Amino acid sequence: MTNCLVLGGNGLIGSFIAEQLASQGHKVRAFDKFWEQDNLKSAAGIEKFKGDYLKRGDLKRTLEGIGVVFHSLHTTVPVSSIKDPLHDAETNILPAIGLLEDAVGAGVKKFVYLSSIAVYGIPEKSPISERASTIPVSPYGVSKLAIEEYVKYFGRAKNLDFVIVRPSASYGERQGFSPETGVVANFVFKALKKQALSIRGKGEAVRDLTHGEDIAKGVVKAAFTETKSRVFNLGTGKGISLNELAKKVGEAVGEKLEIKYEGSARGIQEHVYDVSRAKQELGWEAEIGIEEGVKKCVEAFREKI
Ligand SMILES: NC(=O)c1ccc[n+]([C@@H]2O[C@H](COP(=O)([O-])OP(=O)(O)OC[C@H]3O[C@@H](n4cnc5c(N)ncnc54)[C@H](O)[C@@H]3O)[C@@H](O)[C@H]2O)c1
Repeated sequence: MTNCLVLGGNGLIGSFIAEQLASQGHKVRAFDKFWEQDNLKSAAGIEKFKGDYLKRGDLKRTLEGIGVVFHSLHTTVPVSSIKDPLHDAETNILPAIGLLEDAVGAGVKKFVYLSSIAVYGIPEKSPISERASTIPVSPYGVSKLAIEEYVKYFGRAKNLDFVIVRPSASYGERQGFSPETGVVANFVFKALKKQALSIRGKGEAVRDLTHGEDIAKGVVKAAFTETKSRVFNLGTGKGISLNELAKKVGEAVGEKLEIKYEGSARGIQEHVYDVSRAKQELGWEAEIGIEEGVKKCVEAFREKI
């Protein structure tokens, strides 16, 4: 049994990490602002710690007695980081360095960092393996990569054990009911509100969409498995186009959806992972198929209308 701290413990992935850990008998502290819906309502055995990641004092207090830290929050997303790169760096890179220093000071044994597929940028080859070049195309991706390097530095300089996981695009019923929280939430939100879906280009962009609960299971396996590698891609390893996703959402809602194709396609067109390392070294594979995942989102979001 290990004392675990989950930063962003009320978030999509973090809340599933906290629950996974508790179900395996670990003692869990979930650190979050808890400013939106409570994703840990029914989670027994999880201590909720309300605090602000940007206040070093809050973080320091929550590190007391902790063995493993799961860092599962970022203050921006790629689009917002492009609008304000300085805010992205100031509110992610600098606090992460303070956190690593304080974790070492508090005697933390292992640091688990949730990075992102965004570190790869435009892939040279698909599917993307952990050996691919990291050339991020957003400040979000740059700061994820910078924090990865700081984690590795603290590993070398301070003997802090660590593992880095890079989730693919993740979704789930614990995301906010809003069009801003990812493509699945966006499509389901619009479908339930009977609004047309809006897709840039022809809808052929392909994503590796992974349910947050699957990502969380991979993260926990990565934290507690003795492995050769320290960096893992976590995703389904399967691509789905935006058009296919729209069809699945229409099927789950039970309606034919109107789609407005607007402008030309932008950004990365194919983001699909090679997940063989996680399969071989962690014995982990995503289990929740897109139909089931979309259905969970539709059911949960329907209740919020
Ligand atoms: N969701 C994805 O598609 C995805 C993909 C790749 C990587 N990631 C990364 O995985 C991690 C978790 O992502 P998620 O989707 O669960 O995010 P999320 O937004 O659902 O959860 C983040 C949580 O952090 C909390 N938080 C944010 N700022 C805070 C602050 N200043 N103080 C205290 N709490 C704060 C929020 O309240 C929220 O509950 C992040 O680092 C994210 O960048 C996510």
